[in-house]
Amino acid sequence: MTHGARRRAVIGAAVLGSAAVLSAGSAGTAQARPSAPHRRLPVPTVIAHRGASGYRPEHTLGSYQLALDMGAHVIEQDLVPTKDGHLVCRHENDITGTTDVADRPEFASRKTTKTVDGTSLTGWFTEDFTLAELKTLRAKERIPATRQENTLYDGRWTVPTFEEVLRWAEKEGRRRGRPVWLYVETKHPTYFRKLGLPLEEPLARLLRRYGRHGADSPTFLQSFEPTSMERMAKLVSTPRVVLLWTPDDRPWDFRETGDPRTVADLITPEGLKGIASYAQGIGPLLDLVIPKDKDGKLGRTTTLVRDAHAAKLLVHPYTLRNENSFLPADFRRGTDPAAFGDVFGAYEKYFATGIDGIFTDHPDTALLAAADARAEGTRTR
Ligand code: G3P
Ligand code: CA
Repeated sequence: MTHGARRRAVIGAAVLGSAAVLSAGSAGTAQARPSAPHRRLPVPTVIAHRGASGYRPEHTLGSYQLALDMGAHVIEQDLVPTKDGHLVCRHENDITGTTDVADRPEFASRKTTKTVDGTSLTGWFTEDFTLAELKTLRAKERIPATRQENTLYDGRWTVPTFEEVLRWAEKEGRRRGRPVWLYVETKHPTYFRKLGLPLEEPLARLLRRYGRHGADSPTFLQSFEPTSMERMAKLVSTPRVVLLWTPDDRPWDFRETGDPRTVADLITPEGLKGIASYAQGIGPLLDLVIPKDKDGKLGRTTTLVRDAHAAKLLVHPYTLRNENSFLPADFRRGTDPAAFGDVFGAYEKYFATGIDGIFTDHPDTALLAAADARAEGTRTR
């Protein structure tokens, strides 16, 4: 199974047995006093994953607005292109599950099967729609069985363009008297470049247009494909983060170019030093920080946070969600997969590792947990 398919299948539930371990008590590496704005964010930094996607359909202006209103420090966007090259906010180019496209007879003939990063997918894809066409669709909840309450908002919002988000952030920033931080992911960059729809150049143009191209801009860029971040480093100075999945995963750009390295190679001290030559942080799967045991319970903390900090890289793992179905087995409560578990207990464990921030679908909960961590002095800054 490929990276994308497996990630979709488990949503962060992988059990890692091979990572190096460190006793949990020795975490919380001291760091030099930071200076760049991205190093002065509150720690642990709360990153609203696809907005406040635990409460609103993901990647909608409603989801981003709620996250900002809740006080999230940073708001995440995933980017894919339309047929006419506009960047829009969707977690994947297959929009079957997050829009009403399947109910739209005028687009029935656009349903197709394609292979994206080695995975065969059947559905409707952003690259087959002009922006004008895509804008006629309405966003809906991805996981209605788990998040029934969010279906209340099905149809309320359209798929936002990244430029709309930049304008929204500008307006909200003016209103609040402080910048709105964004965390922007290039999705399937090699796949789209081969289609003649590269992501990086239009993204760089938009970042320049909205003044987010400097090293001090309130923005992180991120990708599972390291070469996408290397490319962005040549176009803009905006801080960059390399996303990391399971140790055996080989990033899709590496596969395409014959680079044999896997995530296991990238998270060695030498691999992290290499990342630090073009990025300011890593975004690892939570299981790379604390692997789960065979029962799905949290195991022993790895050396990743310590090693990344030694390479002067920030560590922003993904993704902690409140529902039982996404929590480690030892933090579930009851048997209803959609019910909230003991997520504060899980935050305590993850924050004690010394991570600099965390992606979450529930920023309000994360903010309380982050305040607890600071109050208890388990954080150094
Ligand atoms: O970008 C951090 C996190 O969002 C990575 O996972 O699959 O939700 O984009 P994904
Ligand atoms: Ca993402």
